Amino acid sequence: MHSLKMGARRIARWIMKNTVVSRESLTPEIALRLITETCPLWMATPDKCPFPNPYWAFYWPGGQAATRYILDNKKEFSGKTVFDFGAGCGSASIASAMVGTRSIANDIDSVITVALVSIALNYRLNKLSDANVQYTNKNFLSPMEIDNFPKDSIIVLGDMFYDTDFTELTLKWLARLQKERGTRALVGDPDRHPMADRNYAKSYSVKFSRIPLVDYPLPDYIIREHYGFNTAKVYELVFN
Ligand SMILES: C[S@@+](CC[C@H](N)C(=O)[O-])C[C@H]1O[C@@H](n2cnc3c(N)ncnc32)[C@H](O)[C@@H]1O
Repeated sequence: MHSLKMGARRIARWIMKNTVVSRESLTPEIALRLITETCPLWMATPDKCPFPNPYWAFYWPGGQAATRYILDNKKEFSGKTVFDFGAGCGSASIASAMVGTRSIANDIDSVITVALVSIALNYRLNKLSDANVQYTNKNFLSPMEIDNFPKDSIIVLGDMFYDTDFTELTLKWLARLQKERGTRALVGDPDRHPMADRNYAKSYSVKFSRIPLVDYPLPDYIIREHYGFNTAKVYELVFN
């Protein structure tokens, strides 16, 4: 069965049945429906899941750091719109609601986006109203979308730099957003190689600096789940 053949209600039922509620993260105040090591799907082959790449069912270390940062720095986000790019489980958007900031939860994972259904469920799980969140599966990476990008927004990128081609494309887009719309870009990242490896960074056509904000030690469970990463950083990207 493919997700295109499932409506939002059936997707929601599937998520409730196949995930567990977890608070094991840098942000235990947020409960999320995730696939963890206690779920049968944890060790299953990809054909057992009806959705391709269920990234929304995992809480990535970079997303955890960015979300922790929002919860700990309420004033910095006051009066802004948090644009949760590649929202996944929606943690950065949920943290924004918790600190009283509106947000846009953006993910393109499939045509009927399973990620957006999962984010709506996670809002309900945390007994939060989603009145101040806008859900969208539009691909904002298109140059056509620069003029439509909401003013006064802070774009939050949780664990989005996992592939070098995608990183370069995203950096070009962020540079234009900063120049033309004044958009700040905050990144949560556990030092994945497309950003942490200096040789890759030098090879990108876009030049930028990383302004360090914080480096969080990851909880033991997350270190086990995301083997090879012990901390996750938050930094701001500034383009030259
Ligand atoms: C590694 S996950 C990170 C999820 C979440 N930010 C976190 O840290 O837990 C990457 C997410 O980016 C989404 N994504 C990939 N390309 C995208 C694009 N062009 N626009 C919006 N979302 C995108 C994927 O569907 C996936 O949910």
